[in-house]
Amino acid sequence: MVVNSNANIVVVDDEKYICSIIVEALASDNYNINHFTDPIAAQEHIEKNSVDLVLTDLVMGDHSGVDVIERTMACHRDAVVILMTAHPTVQTAISVLKKGAYDFLVKPFKLDLLKATIRRGLEHQSVLRDNVHLKGQVEFLKVASASVAGVNIDKFLDLTVKSCKKEMAAQAVGVLEVDPRTRDVIRTAHEADADEYVEEVLDESTLLNFSYTRSNRPNIQRSQITDDGETVTRIFLSQPIFASRKLHGVFNILIISPFDEITSGQLNVLSILSNSAASAITNHRLYQDLELSYLQAIKGLANAIEARDPYTAGHTDRVSHLARKIAQALEWDDARVSDLMMGCTLHDIGKIGVPDRILNKAGTLTGDERRMMNSHPQVGLKIISGIDLFRPAVPYIIAHHEWFNGDGYPEGISGEGIPIEGRLLAVADTFDAILSDRPYRRGAGLGVAVSELIKYRGAQFDPLIVDTFIEILRQGKIDLEEMYGREEDLSVIDGLLNAKTVSA
Ligand SMILES: [Fe+2]
Repeated sequence: MVVNSNANIVVVDDEKYICSIIVEALASDNYNINHFTDPIAAQEHIEKNSVDLVLTDLVMGDHSGVDVIERTMACHRDAVVILMTAHPTVQTAISVLKKGAYDFLVKPFKLDLLKATIRRGLEHQSVLRDNVHLKGQVEFLKVASASVAGVNIDKFLDLTVKSCKKEMAAQAVGVLEVDPRTRDVIRTAHEADADEYVEEVLDESTLLNFSYTRSNRPNIQRSQITDDGETVTRIFLSQPIFASRKLHGVFNILIISPFDEITSGQLNVLSILSNSAASAITNHRLYQDLELSYLQAIKGLANAIEARDPYTAGHTDRVSHLARKIAQALEWDDARVSDLMMGCTLHDIGKIGVPDRILNKAGTLTGDERRMMNSHPQVGLKIISGIDLFRPAVPYIIAHHEWFNGDGYPEGISGEGIPIEGRLLAVADTFDAILSDRPYRRGAGLGVAVSELIKYRGAQFDPLIVDTFIEILRQGKIDLEEMYGREEDLSVIDGLLNAKTVSA
């Protein structure tokens, strides 16, 4: 067991000779000892200095050792306090242990017992500190390894600044991610006790510290400031994030503390943090490149399907646009909207398995042809199965032809049993199909499309999605002229809604 042989120890006893005996008894060790006969002076010292262990008397004139315990625990959460008392009672023992004291010694005590108790206390502290440190490491490593699987990078950075602030006992932590080629800031995250610190920890000029170095060592600046009449140390650390010898960002940490030191444990935390961030950022970038390549390949396939049927050209893009408007009205977050865009691009990918003669048939489909056509959601699912990256597209592919009343395909599920992604896409998909030109007819007008949505509201379509979409149309939030090349009169919507109210 490695204990802190240079531990900062404070001895408090109003009997001067007891202080002297203890200091003498510990003289052969390397401890850094301060002793006080005045408990108030002792508390002032404890407030302003780094302290590992406190040895205090319980009754000191008008003062109680309990105040010393409380002050110590408030200033140094992992300090060890050992109480000395000549009049032990069970009640006293319970109450001081509850306050956070580690142990107590009954006066008079043998000096060997004193030394053994101090050593045991420091061993206990060492285990505790290692545990805290390991816990921090495990937390960071967990997050870092999760990032390999494509964990959202914004969430990752949020989590790391929170952990860092806690582990470093900092007032504020900020992280800046930069493009390694241009040094442009592409992402930031921060956590601060006060707004005034935010600008400082997100200051882009902190990146300049690492313009001409590849060293992973942090830049540390210290200054003395007065806070509420007290002189405290203000420490500003900038920890670079390097990956493949390129600067990918910086962590900025502001610590305002009565102590002028950064512990090796804190520097370790910082080093782990920057390594985790470096791998998370690099992985994220690789993952994005991979996602983009896959999406381009799949977009190529989707375009190939559209090319087989010139009348559906642009369908995927228009459906994506309409679906995104609905999702935004439903206040979906950016990540969900991004999944939606993928889902819309891929939703009809299964049509690749439907022969041209069926896909482009102008007349009514036979039973077999209909079955083949209606198999496209399952075929689509097969095409993307095994590609983890496309898992978010699954509900769009499989459920966009389900009906709210259960009359749809392929599963015939109903109501909220249908994933909301499928219910949303069904509305956008149908609306675009009605307005688009087909081999056998010209595209219908807005009135026809909205009538259909109203007519099948609650049957084919989720009422909530229909109402949301009609409201978006009514407010003119969709540029129909640009999408379909013809002007539409939006007042037709109010007319239809009024007619529905009257007939109801
Ligand atoms: Fe479809």
